Amino acid sequence: MSCRRDAGVYNRGMEQDIDRTLYTREQIDRRVTELGAQIADTYRGVSADLVIVPVLTGSIIFVADLIRHLPFKMRIGLMTVSRYRGATTEGGATQILRDLTVDIKDRHVLVVDDILDTGNTLRTVSEQLRERGPASLRLCTLLRKPSKAPKDLVADFVGFDIEDVFVVGYGLDFNDHYRNWPDLSVLRPELYE
Ligand code: XMP
Repeated sequence: MSCRRDAGVYNRGMEQDIDRTLYTREQIDRRVTELGAQIADTYRGVSADLVIVPVLTGSIIFVADLIRHLPFKMRIGLMTVSRYRGATTEGGATQILRDLTVDIKDRHVLVVDDILDTGNTLRTVSEQLRERGPASLRLCTLLRKPSKAPKDLVADFVGFDIEDVFVVGYGLDFNDHYRNWPDLSVLRPELYE
């Protein structure tokens, strides 16, 4: 089945919930290509010992696009983390719902997340992974909110710095919806306030 955007088929049920778009699919594509090149440069020569750790579920689309810009042998180890139970950005402890099955001892680890908001998720994940003795540990996030992200939590690769708004699309959800919206957009506030 083809997605015919102009015919209104593709966006049915989502478009009317979107307030504005921060980054279009074309802008995302360009930035992910740049990030891929930067990451490929960083790990050239050690890539056989590289383990990409996508933090699920929000990073699914980002990581799927990103790894196709990494032209070398590497491993992927999935981790599922949950912090928000149907709400937006506040509250809730980080829970690891599904842990890695890949051994990361003495390997280079790149954690990939969708957004660095308060930093609780990436802090919990990186503290747990560091205890397992990786050769190196770096963080990559598609979005970062500089107004909220703690200064001591350094992301090595960042797609876009954004203001403090609730973002959906390109893998990011609200109540498990909108992950398949192709742009990075802001939801109409009355839907979640
Ligand atoms: P923290 O606050 O732990 O947030 O850095 C990281 C995780 O929280 C989710 N999150 C969002 N999800 N739009 C979303 O769809 C947002 O604006 C947003 N802010 C935080 C997300 O799962 C992320 O991995």
